[in-house]
Amino acid sequence: MFPLLRAARQIPGEPGSDANRVPVWFMRQAGRSLPEYKAVRGEGTILHVIADTDRAIEITLQPVRRYGVDAAILYSDIVTPVWAVDFGIDIVPGVGPMCEHPFASAADLDRLRPLEPDVDLPYQAETIKAVVAEGGVPLIGFAGGPFTLASYLIEGRPSRTYTKVKALMFSDPKLWHQLCELLADIAIATLRAQVEAGASIVQLFDSWAGALRPEHYREFVLPHSTRILEGVADLNVPRTHFGINTGELLDQMADAGADVVGVDWRTPLSVARERTGGRVALQGNLDPALTTGTWEVMEKEVRRVLADNDGHPGHIFNLGHGVMPESDPGVLKQVVELVHEEGRC
Ligand code: CP3
Repeated sequence: MFPLLRAARQIPGEPGSDANRVPVWFMRQAGRSLPEYKAVRGEGTILHVIADTDRAIEITLQPVRRYGVDAAILYSDIVTPVWAVDFGIDIVPGVGPMCEHPFASAADLDRLRPLEPDVDLPYQAETIKAVVAEGGVPLIGFAGGPFTLASYLIEGRPSRTYTKVKALMFSDPKLWHQLCELLADIAIATLRAQVEAGASIVQLFDSWAGALRPEHYREFVLPHSTRILEGVADLNVPRTHFGINTGELLDQMADAGADVVGVDWRTPLSVARERTGGRVALQGNLDPALTTGTWEVMEKEVRRVLADNDGHPGHIFNLGHGVMPESDPGVLKQVVELVHEEGRC
């Protein structure tokens, strides 16, 4: 069994064999930190690159070749399915997802028609099939979580405060839940199509859900995340649930039906393990900023994270959030080598 899938299921490795090493991959491992990415990326919106299977296959495989990571992650974006149903969203280089006409009222619900993956994003399955055939590592599929996707649709651009999202959530809970229902349907269709094409683990990125206090998360987000994760349960692939600033939400994120919970760098793995009662594997949790610095500092931190996991079988090594454009690929490669040498679980 691939180390990633073993760790995701918290199955102890065979002592003394390579099969008990801690698996490692990086969120946003494909991207602007890699010169080979810049060489094929071209200009304009990333969404057109994602839809171009030749480039998407190449970009998905680049970090596997360069770093020797234990997984490929599909080159796509959390907003790709919403773009594919013509909601009216784009990703502006250097800024992020933007909508010219943000979601504001019940009339906008019609702009989120059901996703038909074969028709709306056939390139997704094509890319996955080719990567699985060539890659030699498991492929991670993913979708955007309800809060994070809704935040881009409602704010119309990246936000630090989520003022408009929260205003809609608190002033019109019925509309909020209707919006999240449609986003959950789209996420389920996306993930199911990815697994059918060959993804062997999926991740729900609710990156910004940590903006909510626990009571509000429980009321406004958890029911929808639970429906998404339960909506792929019959496919028997491990499900990872991730967000940053979610130290106070980790127990609920585990309860949503996850096999693995992502932990950002603020919460030690030992604390996350206590908060989730050991019922899920943990993924994380180096501070991504360290990837721009020296190996000397990084080495100590890699060892700290491994020690903090203390040999528990359910550990997938990763950053606490994504690779940054400024990250040093040389440092990332050394991280993979050290985790493979020293990490055992
Ligand atoms: O390597 C991988 O991890 C796979 C691909 C991937 C991308 N986006 C490609 C991408 C994944 C998993 C995502 C998810 C995603 N997209 C999230 C959740 C993960 C997280 O970071 O919290 C979010 C919030 C988004 C929305 C988004 N897309 C933002 C904020 C940006 C940055 C805009 C910018 O230019 O700085 C994007 C663009 C994007 N998606 C890039 C990549 C590689 C940037 C590079 C480019 O435009 O070529």
